[in-house]
Amino acid sequence: MIRVENLQKAFGDQRVLQGVTLEVQTGEIMIVIGRSGGGKSVFLRHLLGLLRPDAGRIWVDEVDITELRGRALDRVRERYGVVFQGGALFDSMTVFDNIAFPLREKKRSLGPSEIRDRTEEKLAQVGLSGAGHKFPDEVSGGMRKRAAIARALVTEPEIVFFDEPTTGLDPVLVNAIHHLIVDLHRKFRFTAVMVSHEIPEIFEIAQRVAMLHDGVIVEVGEPKVIQESANPVIQQFIRGQIEGPIRAT
Ligand SMILES: Nc1ncnc2c1ncn2[C@@H]1O[C@H](COP(=O)(O)OP(=O)(O)OP(=O)(O)O)[C@@H](O)[C@H]1O
Ligand SMILES: [Mg+2]
Repeated sequence: MIRVENLQKAFGDQRVLQGVTLEVQTGEIMIVIGRSGGGKSVFLRHLLGLLRPDAGRIWVDEVDITELRGRALDRVRERYGVVFQGGALFDSMTVFDNIAFPLREKKRSLGPSEIRDRTEEKLAQVGLSGAGHKFPDEVSGGMRKRAAIARALVTEPEIVFFDEPTTGLDPVLVNAIHHLIVDLHRKFRFTAVMVSHEIPEIFEIAQRVAMLHDGVIVEVGEPKVIQESANPVIQQFIRGQIEGPIRAT
């Protein structure tokens, strides 16, 4: 479904992506791991069409999105749902309006009652029934994350991107959010590309895991294969003993 070939991106003389090649199959949860500042978010921003590569190609089905502009790119993005790092909600809108927002933007044929029903349904699916009238700063961090996930899924997208949907949450909430994602994935069968640091939990929820290191995917495979990898970079990452300085992001 998504095929990335030799993706390269530098900012000034900092070469962040140095030839990323990766295929994501329809319906799988692919989790990208790698150290902080390693380029995971930059990689996702290319898949979203928010950054242009210096070189390389990204096919979504048979369309090379690196060639697309304007309306044509919008049409591909309409198939996407996105949970940004930090789960940013619009502070000036209620939780309900945050979740309804993509429907109002992307599904213009829907009437108000349909928008209400679908929004209420998604609120319920993430356990936020009754919290729709609150503003983001009136709910907990975990509730904000769940609202961000509901917003990403409300249009029932084919492809969902999650950039660290659980960072900063306590272990109980990490678990709850992961369960929620797996549960929703079972129901809706979207294709997911997720960036996460949560070791070892990600090995429970991914179909495949890809390790981004020094600007390339050094290994990709089923969780068990990655966990048992002989690659010291992967073993160090898993043990939380990542070498080298952590650059500021
Ligand atoms: N628009 C930009 N302009 C210049 N440099 C950037 C830009 N976006 C990202 N970078 C740099 O690219 C590098 C990779 O950043 P990125 O946000 O992708 O890291 P990451 O792997 O997502 O890290 P984290 O796990 O901390 O979120 C960092 O050094 C960052 O400062
Ligand atoms: Mg990031």
